[in-house]
Amino acid sequence: MSRVEINEVAPRDGLQIESVFVSTEDKVRLINALSVTGVKRIEASSFTSPKAIPNLRDASEVISMIDRHAGVLITALVPNEKGCERALLCGVDEINMVMSASLSHSKVNLRMTPEQSLEQLQRIVRMIKGTGVFCNASISTVFGCPFEGFLPENQVLSIIERLLDVGVDGITLCDTTGMANPAQVKHLCQTILGKWPEVPFTLHFHNTRGMGLANALAAWEAGIVRFDGALGGVGGCPYAPGATGNVCTEDLVHMFEQMGVNTGVDLDALLMVSKTLPVILEHDVPGQVVKAGKADRRYAMPDR
Ligand code: COA
Ligand code: ZN
Repeated sequence: MSRVEINEVAPRDGLQIESVFVSTEDKVRLINALSVTGVKRIEASSFTSPKAIPNLRDASEVISMIDRHAGVLITALVPNEKGCERALLCGVDEINMVMSASLSHSKVNLRMTPEQSLEQLQRIVRMIKGTGVFCNASISTVFGCPFEGFLPENQVLSIIERLLDVGVDGITLCDTTGMANPAQVKHLCQTILGKWPEVPFTLHFHNTRGMGLANALAAWEAGIVRFDGALGGVGGCPYAPGATGNVCTEDLVHMFEQMGVNTGVDLDALLMVSKTLPVILEHDVPGQVVKAGKADRRYAMPDR
């Protein structure tokens, strides 16, 4: 049976864009509940400037308070060296350094150029070396930028090459505002796996235009086995106009499990956690399987 790895990013990507601050206690409860569902990795928070992302200003407290489970890796997004220092102090298993493929989104989101992000990353890789912490790099706007439009594939390939030269252990390709389509995804994934078959690539889709699951399927068909998802389909970058939620983790797991692909996730347990989200966030969320039930749900015949 084939297998995919599911990374849960709702505590970071999901909560960063909420209009209200989710309490530290609720964040910890959510992460603890997710930790026993079988997801491989949880992006628990981000060590960003509290002015840029006020919702995640409690990253250190959250990561210090959560229960740690063998087999569940705790990762955190960092935009710069300072973020990496803060994350390492909390004992994260992984660092996820974020940069943008497009100059405009990079300047708006990170207030630096992609070139400056690469310089930060070089220092981060040096900082992490020998600690056993996995160094991942996430590239935003790979499949399109809300300011610049579609980027030439070569621009993305050359950033990947630079990241590998710098010495990152893994790379995540992000479709920040849901501009990707399955044909584009399949082509890029086939190209990168052809060029760098040993690199652990992860795909991170947003469902902004309803193509999230189709894109994940296209990536999987091209050979990708690591996916980010956010519980309930929440999420989005506050500095990317028009951004909406990630591909919904439980819908992604449901799709793969229905196809006979093992995700390692206990879908029933995940759905139970998903039911708590509207209570924590005080609004409905986009996930569909939690509302419709799994495909094996049966209804009683109506009385006539
Ligand atoms: N954690 C906490 N504080 C940080 C920080 C970090 N990682 N990086 C910078 N700061 C603080 C500085 O210490 C400084 O504080 P001060 O005003 O008290 O002296 C202040 O932020 C400004 O520092 P500077 O280096 O000039 O940062 P900036 O204002 O140019 O912002 C980033 C750059 C990258 C820190 C900021 O844009 C950011 O955090 N972006 C993240 C965006 C994001 O997460 N988007 C969604 C995910 S894709
Ligand atoms: Zn995202």
